[in-house]
Amino acid sequence: MKFDKSKKLYEEAKKMVPGGVSSSIRQSEWPVPLFFKSAKGSKMTDVDGNQFIDYVMGMGPNIFGHSPDFITNSVYKDMQDGFCLTGQSEKENELSEFVERTLPFKRKFRYASSGTEIVQIALRLARSYTNKNKFLKFEGHYHGWMDSVLYNSHPDVSSEETLFDPIAESGGIAKGTADEVVIAPWNDAEAIEKILKDQHKDISAIITEPILWNSNVILPNSGYLEKLRELCDEYDVLLIFDEVGTGFRVALGGAQEIYCVEPDLSTYAKSMAGGFPIAMLAGKPEIMDYMSSGEVVHGGSFNTNVMSVSAAHATLDYLLNNKNFFKSLNKNGEILINGLEEAAKKQNIDVLIQGLGSVFYLSFTNLDSIKNYRDHANNVDQEKYREFSKLMLLNGVRLSQNGRWHMSSSHDVNDIENTIRAAELSFAEL
Ligand SMILES: Cc1ncc(COP(=O)(O)O)c(C=O)c1O
Repeated sequence: MKFDKSKKLYEEAKKMVPGGVSSSIRQSEWPVPLFFKSAKGSKMTDVDGNQFIDYVMGMGPNIFGHSPDFITNSVYKDMQDGFCLTGQSEKENELSEFVERTLPFKRKFRYASSGTEIVQIALRLARSYTNKNKFLKFEGHYHGWMDSVLYNSHPDVSSEETLFDPIAESGGIAKGTADEVVIAPWNDAEAIEKILKDQHKDISAIITEPILWNSNVILPNSGYLEKLRELCDEYDVLLIFDEVGTGFRVALGGAQEIYCVEPDLSTYAKSMAGGFPIAMLAGKPEIMDYMSSGEVVHGGSFNTNVMSVSAAHATLDYLLNNKNFFKSLNKNGEILINGLEEAAKKQNIDVLIQGLGSVFYLSFTNLDSIKNYRDHANNVDQEKYREFSKLMLLNGVRLSQNGRWHMSSSHDVNDIENTIRAAELSFAEL
């Protein structure tokens, strides 16, 4: 497999774009960040003509695979009548009606373009509603790249003594933001009970990924989310579920449908429009109405642009009319997981695959389960995964840099078989 054209384009890009990429994580791709020519269904083709079965899937959004015709057609049709209206449309109302039918709880909605933005408005609302300034986030959780939340998503915890102090994960983060964030271990109800007992007067909200999508795809311990809900009620703290990853991917109503726990606010983005940029905040009406009164400001020139509304409308219409979509997505994912586990076993390689069929995480570790970020950071051989993902690429399978695999409904039996074959070869070569 040759990557000559990508290498040449990367050299040119570096002269114009810092690091040659438009998102920091892409910089670590091997052999260079690849330049792509086209993507359709489960496959991507790069500028050198290499074709890959793709499990990056936009880091989650492409639940139907790349550029599904029904979304392309809907967007193309709707955009003939204008695309950046910066105004309301009847189709947006229809979209909200669709959303009402997907979520398990009665909600009002606001839309934006990215997960980072929607988390921002969730935290702002929580502060205004509770009249408290701090919020609590968990180690190993990622909520976007803005200053207030870019703390302790992937901290170095190799020393036993590492505390839960806020650690900024980029240069240039406003120093004052560290005073607003309280960091806690996840899946540990006692730790939260203690923090809330001591600090509830200052904490407006707990924000959590209900399934820890950003570190090893860790499921919550039995009763953990329920306990968070109980503690938030006891101490007048809002509970925010960041479902940017899990929303419209693990079930129609997201993780809150699976676990039947009602957050006060929840954020969505990635999979809501089958790959088009849209984000949504869903919240209890009495909290969301702080935006109606003008008490809390939320803006965005591109909010509910015609293409994003059209794609989200088509996505939700499809999902509402295909009730078995997630069942079958998860089932196909499980077939793949079983095949990958078998392939590793044949080579006597210890791997742990965690998550659900639609999204899962493959780690090189001898643990038989990972319950929190520190288990992950201290016991997973990331270097081995990087080596494995290089070999997989050379065997025709594109994996994300961070170990998370995303299934789509376009991955068929052949793709699954070919992926397992590629994994057999890659494990053998490791
Ligand atoms: C749980 C979660 N929240 C927020 C974000 C930020 O979303 P975006 O990349 O659309 O800004 C991400 C992105 O990966 C995420 O996984």
